[in-house]
Amino acid sequence: PASAQRDADGALAIGGVGVAELRTKYGTPLYVLDETEVRAHARGMHDALRGAAQAHGTDARVYYAGKAFMSAEVVRWVTEEGLCVDVCSRGELETALAGGADPARMGYHGNNKRVSELERAIEVGIGAIVVDSAIEIERIAAIAARRGVVQRVFVRVNTGVHAETHDFLATAHEDQKFGVPLDAAPVSVARIREIPSLEFGGIHCHIGSQIFGAAGFVESASRVVELYATLLAGGPVSTLNLGGGFGIAYTRVDQLTPFPELASAVVDAVARECEVRGLPLPELAFEPGRSVIGQAGVTLYEVGTTKNVSLGERGDRLYVSVDGGMSDNARPALYGAQYSARIASRTSDEVPALVRVVGSHCESGDIVVDHEYLPGDVTPGDLLAVPATGAYCYSLSSNYNQAPRPAVVAVRDGEARVIVRGETLEDVLARDLGIAPAPGTRA
Ligand code: LLP
Repeated sequence: PASAQRDADGALAIGGVGVAELRTKYGTPLYVLDETEVRAHARGMHDALRGAAQAHGTDARVYYAGKAFMSAEVVRWVTEEGLCVDVCSRGELETALAGGADPARMGYHGNNKRVSELERAIEVGIGAIVVDSAIEIERIAAIAARRGVVQRVFVRVNTGVHAETHDFLATAHEDQKFGVPLDAAPVSVARIREIPSLEFGGIHCHIGSQIFGAAGFVESASRVVELYATLLAGGPVSTLNLGGGFGIAYTRVDQLTPFPELASAVVDAVARECEVRGLPLPELAFEPGRSVIGQAGVTLYEVGTTKNVSLGERGDRLYVSVDGGMSDNARPALYGAQYSARIASRTSDEVPALVRVVGSHCESGDIVVDHEYLPGDVTPGDLLAVPATGAYCYSLSSNYNQAPRPAVVAVRDGEARVIVRGETLEDVLARDLGIAPAPGTRA
């Protein structure tokens, strides 16, 4: 986070809280979230996207994609900064409600929402359910009819554009599970329009995640506007939701389009596409997750062991083992994601060494930072900070090797507080009835 600074003694402070204090009070590994930065990103994205829409005479809603990091406290921050909330499970829905999000400003996603989940979403008055298949239309309609309400629904379409990181492919990703094919969408929309318990809100698309440039969004928007033109012939279409996916910088080599620029490029593209076809500009919606919270998070680890491995003519590599790993950050193992690291507890003038930061789990793919240069005197007891771990680390965390999940601590103006308590070993062991049979739970 921008607030991360070295104190006079060389130790890192995040949000004005020193890492030594964080280690003493909460232990490691520890997820640290800078509240001020989450709020600033939420507000910044909200203002940039709404501003871009308003420049064309329409408006935009910005939903926080809770899958990136879901907790009641974070929901409170982002909704206070003007965001709506996007959820994709019962658990996310309940957390968002607990965080005070207005259900009328929530969207519900998923390719296989359970009937009980749909029931609950409709019961609490969810603003939009994003339909992912024709089958689901009938399910939602039946529940809404039984409850005597009219449910607003969107249709998620697969535009055939899937932009993933640097790899932007035009049609190769039609073969995936989400959404209704573009050419089948008019049939689904016609069906929705004839059902009295449903209101058609508009079209949704999402082309991928960690996208750096505007090209994929622009291509997808142009395909969606073509569909929008077709659908307008049969009735109103109030909103086009273009999903999330805006990339963030994980390491210094990541080159991004600055956010306000990207937002305008995408919104301008939709406006242009509508203009050339002589169509009214609809309201727009977006669902950023990673770009709201990713850079506001840091994971703190303690170094346990170091080991030098010779790479022959290529020199040496210092393996630095920390007290977490793929259970608190699965992204390197899952996606080959790249991170960086710093010694957080002190500075050093030692010559940098090529380092691989690895976790404590029982597999060699348990990598936290694949390659980094750290001072060659990095040693057991040092604290390492891995930045940009706010998104999809805590939310993808696991108990692999019976590891308890770390706590999440929010820092702000020199104060730290736990917003998600860490698991204890007892928490992890408690579900195994062979270890701790609770009275009456065994035959
Ligand atoms: N809307 C929809 C419908 C989505 O499926 C997603 C992400 C988002 C919004 C938010 O995307 P974002 O702005 O955060 O990129 N676990 C992966 C990312 C999976 C994204 C899934 N859907 C990772 O760690 O990179």
